[in-house]
Amino acid sequence: MLFTIQVNNKKIRAEKGETILSALNRNGIIIPTLCRMKEFTPTGACRMCVVEVEGRDRLVTACSQPVEEWMKIKTHSPRVITARKTIVELLLSNHPDDCLYCDRNLNCELQRLAEELNIRERRIRARKIKPRLDQSSPSIVRELSKCILCGRCVRVCEEVITATSLDFINKGRETHVGATMDKDFNFSSCIHCGQCVLVCPTGALHEKHYLAEVQEYLNKPEMVKVIQYSSMVVYGIAEELGLRYTKGFDKTLNAILRKIGFDKVFKTGTGTDVCITEITGQLSERIENKADKPLYISACPAWVKYVEQFIPSLIPELSTVKSPQQITGVLIKTLVAGQLGVKPEEIFSVSATPCMAMKFEARRDGMMRKGISDVDSVLTVRELARLIRLYGIDTSNIEEEPADEPMAGRSSAAIMAEVSGGLAESVLRSLHFMKMKKEPDKQLFKKLRSGGLFRETSLQIDEKDVRVAVVDGLTGLEKLKISLASGKKYDLIEVMTCPGGCVHGAGLPFSPSKDEIKSRAKLVYQSDDTEAINLPCKSPSCINLYEKLLKDNSDIADKKIFYTHFEKRNVLL
Ligand code: SF4
Ligand code: SF4
Ligand code: FES
Repeated sequence: MLFTIQVNNKKIRAEKGETILSALNRNGIIIPTLCRMKEFTPTGACRMCVVEVEGRDRLVTACSQPVEEWMKIKTHSPRVITARKTIVELLLSNHPDDCLYCDRNLNCELQRLAEELNIRERRIRARKIKPRLDQSSPSIVRELSKCILCGRCVRVCEEVITATSLDFINKGRETHVGATMDKDFNFSSCIHCGQCVLVCPTGALHEKHYLAEVQEYLNKPEMVKVIQYSSMVVYGIAEELGLRYTKGFDKTLNAILRKIGFDKVFKTGTGTDVCITEITGQLSERIENKADKPLYISACPAWVKYVEQFIPSLIPELSTVKSPQQITGVLIKTLVAGQLGVKPEEIFSVSATPCMAMKFEARRDGMMRKGISDVDSVLTVRELARLIRLYGIDTSNIEEEPADEPMAGRSSAAIMAEVSGGLAESVLRSLHFMKMKKEPDKQLFKKLRSGGLFRETSLQIDEKDVRVAVVDGLTGLEKLKISLASGKKYDLIEVMTCPGGCVHGAGLPFSPSKDEIKSRAKLVYQSDDTEAINLPCKSPSCINLYEKLLKDNSDIADKKIFYTHFEKRNVLL
């Protein structure tokens, strides 16, 4: 039901049941918020969104208060502005004030609010919070003195990721956000997804940077500097640098990376094609052997850690095929090293990715051979953008260049792996082609693509009904459990930790809206629709790898380098 309310002496239409904030925003009136996150029930914790409602003594929080027919609201009265200003001044009163050196400098919600509210001096002085820097995690750094206790990270970790690795600790002035038993992050159940980093409004949580290390190696003439980047990095870099993404931007990125000093530039997509091919082989074998348990795809490193910690009974069902990053990494340190006539340790191998958990994955024991890691440094898209800016590359004035063989090309199936359901679809498409010698109609996968936390479909392949399920974000696991308990059987199950898949990866530009995530996914589907090569087995780079390079190289011909193992992990809960 629609009704009229008065806001700032003007009439606007409001809808029964919505909050004051929602009515204001729909009518183009923006007020600041801090603890609120869209799609979450409001907590009213920060009071940044307060407004004045005639007849009420106290200011009310617009994000949690339902709008009512009789309301006369003031959104920017002197009383309201003073209240908001005082909230920010209190938050700043014990803040470290090291904006210039902060990870979120110029991209911080607290800084923006202080600027918007015209705060020009420190009126309120409080004892500074003792600096506490937790760098123990391979993916995430916590700077507790910058935390404003908004609770966004706690809620995302519990309600979206279900890892519940963060919580409020202590009371009163001692309150802070911490990991289990207030220990360092590396002892916690964190699965390194980075979704908490994506929602933190300040520099209290950020990715662990490996930029200094990359810069150091770029200056070592005795090293071969190599970089791989995944398909989502191409879109993400355009977004982060404020450039318009056009088809062929990957070739511009190749040229940029060479100008920075990388000797070889590879596409992780070739590794994704290998990953799809190997998983297809595993699935085919399981179907032939009439396996009664499903094969779980293991390409998402945060999901793998989740299984190792919380559902170790699933480990035997996890595909042992490495992730695209690690497959590309191992090919660099074996095949490429051989082609260049250098030792693996003479190559410095960087991976640029939209994922924060891949920083952790690169350091897993199983991703090293004889003490040498296959991927030496992992950069998020934001870090790579910093590197590009640091090197002063004029991105508007650069000639396009191809990537380097043997990993210069990929199929569109490799891009599909960036969206939830895409990897499962690619495996099914490959299996269909392998058995039926023709590509299936993409319409058959409609059910895997449409929204929802849990999706399922089946495909008739060689007289067998191949059943597949997709879990889009870990909250969807509950639905999978219910479905399995009801007796449903699946041959293949894909689970992605970040809702929507890698298009929502925590290494991509900050604060993506739902629409922005959707438009990244749209770009993925568009590429799949417009590119000519839709299957790994039709990609020249993948064919060359399987038909020639692996066969010619006796050390890796058995393809064991593409496989790994997973183990139960004990963590403090
Ligand atoms: S990285 Fe993910 S699992 Fe770890 S604390 Fe943040 S949200 Fe939770
Ligand atoms: S770490 Fe960031 S997101 Fe978490 S409570 Fe502190 S300021 Fe909020
Ligand atoms: S945004 Fe409304 S109380 Fe925090």
